[in-house]
Amino acid sequence: MKTVLPLLGLLLLPLAGIAADTAAPARPYFAANCFNCHGTEGKAVSAIPTIAGRDRAYLEEALKAFKAGTKQATIMTQLAKGYTDEELAILADYFARQR
Ligand code: HEC
Repeated sequence: MKTVLPLLGLLLLPLAGIAADTAAPARPYFAANCFNCHGTEGKAVSAIPTIAGRDRAYLEEALKAFKAGTKQATIMTQLAKGYTDEELAILADYFARQR
């Protein structure tokens, strides 16, 4: 029993993780591409601006301006070009809902 119980825990932990993931509001799969620089769920841990919990319209506007090249940027212009306008709107909505 002593060896079986910790093993059971190891088996159940990942399942709990999956359950928690499905309970959370759907995260667009492409939002993870932003976590490296903007922090997990958009909460920055560096000089790169926090995008979590910012105004949805502002984020969408900023992303579309990056894509159009009308907003000054080092990297976001190239990145934003990789997404359709609809995906940028989804990303803006997703990060605006993070707390
Ligand atoms: C390689 C690092 C990197 C990645 C990956 C990245 N960003 Fe950025 N982001 C930046 C930097 C740096 C800035 C500041 C503007 C600039 O220099 O490009 C920025 C700025 C922004 C801004 C403007 C914030 C403001 O205060 O105006 C938004 C919105 C944003 N990023 C959204 C995203 C989204 C959504 C993704 C995922 C598709 C993403 N970023 C991926 C580095 C990154």
